[in-house]
Amino acid sequence: MLEYLKPGILLPMTVRNERMCLTRTEKGVFAVQDKCPHNGAALSKGHCTPANEIVCPLHRYSFALDSGKSTSGGAYALTTYPIEIRRDGVFVGIKAKWWES
Ligand code: FES
Repeated sequence: MLEYLKPGILLPMTVRNERMCLTRTEKGVFAVQDKCPHNGAALSKGHCTPANEIVCPLHRYSFALDSGKSTSGGAYALTTYPIEIRRDGVFVGIKAKWWES
C-alpha cells in the first residue's frame, strides 16, 4: 500500500486548506507543515536525513520529523500531523476548527 510513497520522497499536499509535506523514512511515515517557519520556503523541496530530519532547501535549517522541533538551533518548530496507516490508505489527522465541532 505504501509503494507509491518511496522512502525519502517529500510529497507536498493540501488537506482542508493546510499545506503539508508527507514523507516516509526508515522510522515511519510523517506529515509536517510544508512552509518553513524561518522564511517560508517549501520544505517539500528540501530533503530528509538519516537522523530522521527534514532540511529546508533555502537556509538548511533542520527539524525532527517526529516532534517538529528544530535540530539546528533557534526557536522554530513545525506543526506535525498524526498519521494512521490503514489497509485502505494513509490518513492524516487535522484538528477541527472551532466552528466545525
Ligand atoms: S526559509 Fe527555511 S531555513 Fe530559512
